[in-house]
This record gives sequence, structure tokens and C-alpha cells, in this order.
Amino acid sequence: MPHESSVPPASSAPSAPSGSLAVEAAFALEVAAEAAALVRSRAGTGAVREKSRADLVTDVDEASERLIVSRIRARFPADAVVAEEFAAAAVAGGRRWVIDPIDGTTNFVHGHPFVAVSVALVDDAGPAVGVVHAPFLGEVFHAVRGGGAFLGGERMAVTDETELGRALLATGFPFKQGKGDLDAYMLLVADAVRSSRDVRRAGSAALDLAFTAAGRVEGFFEIGLAPWDVAAGMLLVAEAGGRVTGWPGDADPPLVTGRILASNGHLHAALEELTARWVDRL
Ligand code: IPD
Repeated sequence: MPHESSVPPASSAPSAPSGSLAVEAAFALEVAAEAAALVRSRAGTGAVREKSRADLVTDVDEASERLIVSRIRARFPADAVVAEEFAAAAVAGGRRWVIDPIDGTTNFVHGHPFVAVSVALVDDAGPAVGVVHAPFLGEVFHAVRGGGAFLGGERMAVTDETELGRALLATGFPFKQGKGDLDAYMLLVADAVRSSRDVRRAGSAALDLAFTAAGRVEGFFEIGLAPWDVAAGMLLVAEAGGRVTGWPGDADPPLVTGRILASNGHLHAALEELTARWVDRL
């Protein structure tokens, strides 16, 4: 696991959020920072278990989730909580906090620094507040609905690239049991590699979305995700001027289906065309 000494200096600190969701946004930033400090301090410690083949959970995931959930229950007792380890039942409506205590658990176990704590507040209009805190990168991404998206204290914007052939894309593989046909998915990935400049697989969907919002990649596609993997990141992309949808033919949104296309907007149609070529085989 990454060592604390390898953590780079944090980017500029997020400034205090304003607007009608300012209290919730400040809370989300604070609790994500607290959980990120815990994750960082406990790198390399604790037991690792397999929930199923290749689907890992550690004592640190559980400690991070307990911390975040206890803070939410104390501060917003009327809100529901959806969280990866102990509160995974989907809540379809109303105000709910959607939490991934460690997105990128496999990376965490292997000492790969692409790890994030993801905290989102979702209501009937979708994600309202989103924080993606990367403890080993020293980066904090956050967004408030209608208030823009930020990396530290700096406003983020998606790129203005319009050519798929010049775009860098990101994806994740359906490596967990029952999450999709891996062989067919790899044909889609090969198509994406040939159609774009290249494709990255970071191992954290929350960071893939944060990187799309920050203009480090132009687009991201994946299937088999859970709401806690994407709730905060979806808002980052939308508030950075990008676009987030389901896959071609999906009747329900990504928070329900776990299938997501995110882009700088200019390349969304190209991502839809790419995935439409393979969607029936996945
Ligand atoms: C995982 C990461 C990964 C994605 C997996 C997710 P977890 O989240 O987001 O990038 O490909 O499908 O489950 O399990 O580490 O929280």
C-alpha cells in the first residue's frame, strides 16, 4: 500500500462553498478529508478479504465508512445513507448520502495511489453535492449543483476537444463476477483504442470522472458500477461543463443501471456511436 511519506503536497485548499447547499458541501469536504486522512494513515495495515473473486474489502474500507456514516447520522439524522460496505441497499428517492469509503480498493491493497474517498448528496433531481478526495495524490475535487466544479480552490473545466482521434479516454473493466461479458468488453476497448489517442484504466471510477471534469481525459465509459462509484463524480463532470448519460438504449440513468458515459460534451455523440457498436454483446 502507498506510504504516507509518498504523499505530495495538497493542491490549493477548497474555498468555503456558498449557496443553498453550502452547509452540506462544507460538511462533505470536511468528512471526506477526515476519512482520507484515516485511509492515508492506515495504508499498509489491516486485513484484506474477498467479497467475491477479485472484489476486495479491507478493514480500512470499513473504518472509513463507519466514520463517514457516523458523522452523517449525527449531523443530518433525517437523511438516508447508501454506502458500499454496510448500507448498500439502493434508496430510490429523497435526500440520501451516497458514499464510497475507498473507491479503488484493489489499488489501495496493492499500493497504487489511484484511490479516492467519494461522498455525494443525492436528491430527487440527482447529485447535489459531490466530493472526490484522493488521499495519495493530495487532490480534492468537489462540485455543488449549479455552483461549478473545483480542484482544490481552482475552477475545473472539461476540454474543448472535438475529434475522437485526438481524445484520451478512460474506462474500467468488468472484472468482478456477474458485472458483464469481459471478452466482449475487451473488443469494445480495442475499438476505443483504435478510435482514440489511447485508453486509460485507473481503477477508480470516481477518479475517472474527476479526471474527465479536470480535462485530463476527454471521456469515460464503464458498466457494472455501483451508485457510490459514480454519484459524486457525475456531478463533477456536469458542473465542469461536460455531459453524463447512460449507454445507448438505457431507459434508466447511471445511478440506477451502473452504466455510464461521461464526456466533455463535444465527444458525447462519438462515445455513444462507439459503445452502440458493442452494447448488445455486453
Ligand atoms: C471499483 C472502482 C473500479 C471499477 C469497479 C468498482 P471499488 O470500486 O471504481 O474502477 O472498475 O467496478 O467497483 O470496489 O474499489 O469501490
